[in-house]
Amino acid sequence: MSDDVLSAVVGLELECGLNSRGIEGYRKIMADPRSILLVAIDESAPENIVGVFSSIVILDELQIDNLAVSACARRQGIGQLLLKSTLTIAASLGAHAAVLEVRSANLPARRFYEKNDFIVVGIRKRYYTAPVDDALLLIREIQKPIINVS
Ligand SMILES: CC(C)(COP(=O)(O)OP(=O)(O)OC[C@H]1O[C@@H](n2cnc3c(N)ncnc32)[C@H](O)[C@@H]1OP(=O)(O)O)[C@@H](O)C(=O)NCCC(=O)NCCS
Repeated sequence: MSDDVLSAVVGLELECGLNSRGIEGYRKIMADPRSILLVAIDESAPENIVGVFSSIVILDELQIDNLAVSACARRQGIGQLLLKSTLTIAASLGAHAAVLEVRSANLPARRFYEKNDFIVVGIRKRYYTAPVDDALLLIREIQKPIINVS
């Protein structure tokens, strides 16, 4: 993620019905070396941001803040690619687990994380507003990268 795509990133998050930290919020976390902020770009139209993944490694935990893929680009593996790339970077930064909260009514996201080995470990009743919904707390292990010493 770079400064020139921030307006598109925020636009995509809002278009996908997610809260966004906004351009100034992104500028702040971009300066934090623990942040892992990735975008997916349409190769045929590089100005077109089709995916965004924002997260931060706190101690040994990757905290996932937002993942959004443009409606016209879903079910093509973009979300999975962003997640896997982030997990690889997070492992190299010392993360052992990835965590996030998801709306219980957000079935596509729940299926996505289930497919990617996340499990539900908690529920926060009526955590979300507009509309009111429970938050599910999801977690998965992150394996250390395998280093070939031979
Ligand atoms: C959730 C989201 C990021 C998934 O992105 P995506 O690029 O479409 O996901 P992928 O193509 O990588 O899907 C990987 C797997 O996840 C599962 N999956 C993804 N979307 C699904 C859906 N709508 N219904 C059921 N399973 C789904 C499938 O197992 C899929 O594999 P398959 O296509 O081979 O069956 C996307 O739907 C999105 O942006 N939603 C709106 C924003 C949002 O809710 N973000 C999550 C906030 S926590």
